[in-house]
Amino acid sequence: MFRFDPYSPLVDADPFPLYKTLRDEYPCFWSEQAQTWTLSRYADILAAGLDWKTYSSAKGNLMTELPNRAGATLGTTDPPRHDRLRGLIQHAFMKRNLEGLSDAIRDIARDLAQSLRGRPRFDLIADFSSKFTVRVLIAALGLPPGDEDSVREKAVLMVQSDPQTRAKGPQHIAAYAWMQDYASKVIAERRAHPQNDLISLLSTACIDGDRLDEREVLLTTTTLIMAGVESLGGFMAMFGLNLAEFEAARRAVVADPALIGDAIEESLRFNTSAQRFRRCLQKDVTLHGQNMHAGDFVCLAYGSGNRDERQFPDADRYDVGRKPRHHLGFGGGVHACLGTAVARLSTRIAFEELHKAVPDYRRTGGPMHWMPSSTFRSPLRLEVAA
Ligand code: HEM
Repeated sequence: MFRFDPYSPLVDADPFPLYKTLRDEYPCFWSEQAQTWTLSRYADILAAGLDWKTYSSAKGNLMTELPNRAGATLGTTDPPRHDRLRGLIQHAFMKRNLEGLSDAIRDIARDLAQSLRGRPRFDLIADFSSKFTVRVLIAALGLPPGDEDSVREKAVLMVQSDPQTRAKGPQHIAAYAWMQDYASKVIAERRAHPQNDLISLLSTACIDGDRLDEREVLLTTTTLIMAGVESLGGFMAMFGLNLAEFEAARRAVVADPALIGDAIEESLRFNTSAQRFRRCLQKDVTLHGQNMHAGDFVCLAYGSGNRDERQFPDADRYDVGRKPRHHLGFGGGVHACLGTAVARLSTRIAFEELHKAVPDYRRTGGPMHWMPSSTFRSPLRLEVAA
């Protein structure tokens, strides 16, 4: 009998054959182990993402939720509260002009890429993408520069779960508490001395007299740290993995850097780090002959929708020329990612600089080790030979 448990560590290594069976035979699947439905077809996932009245985020959107987050953050509220938060946060994002940030991003990327020049082997994650994302985050949010290592360590722990049970353990909860305490201190300091950084802009964002309250600024800041470190860092690791494994694609991108944007979109489709998010049903729904009930949890398997042959012909092929503009790598519907512009820009600049310093690299053998998480999928290490 077919089994699919989105919380099982077995799913991390290679979810794609399981996703295919789900799409073809069980497009609306109830997992007894996980007590969760899974939607795996592109059209069903997108429809659910748009229909927030039925598929609510207010009970949390991570497959394993952190304490006191559901119902309080952008990703874990429904309209109209969500629209209000999104408007205010977008306002702050727009003021933190990306053009102004791109020079700082390039300096960070160049510095790290140059440190890899001439090295026969390195870990593309530990030595490059992970350091890069934290430094970019520190520059964008305006966190104190010396805090890099502790912010990275705690942010990574926050998104992980117990490798076996996939529940949050005391170390994950403690990391989240540390991050909230840390962020509160930085916010208090920025309120007193505002600067041109996202935390100051979030604290002062105002639309028609409406502002984010103290708790909203705090939870938004911790969400952005989590998104920056894990979503962006995890995706850069996946992009690096694709280029390290698909030699023809890497050669094409190195020879013609203008292709890098297309290669990024194809990686967001082919194996996004943001694999599965969760919703809670507000009413009974019958889909593909299955009766789902109000109160049931539903997993939206973005990683599966992106491999749906009904939407993307020859979906299991990594094709830099595909230009898949409507993939689900950033989700879809009302909660679609707010950080798309900064994520695309940062990844592009990072790999442009990496390729100038290290144009040729390939993955060295050995099994992959994946981050213990039921929401995100990214390797813990990526050893490459240059
Ligand atoms: C390539 C990197 C990234 C990927 C793959 C990614 C992916 C996603 C996905 C799939 C969602 C939807 C979650 C859901 O359906 O519940 C999301 C939401 C979100 N992302 Fe990203 N993300 C990335 C980078 C970032 C960055 C760098 C930031 C901010 C600095 C960010 C901020 C957010 C926020 C605030 C939301 C919630 C939006 C809402 O609920 O309205 N993301 N992201």
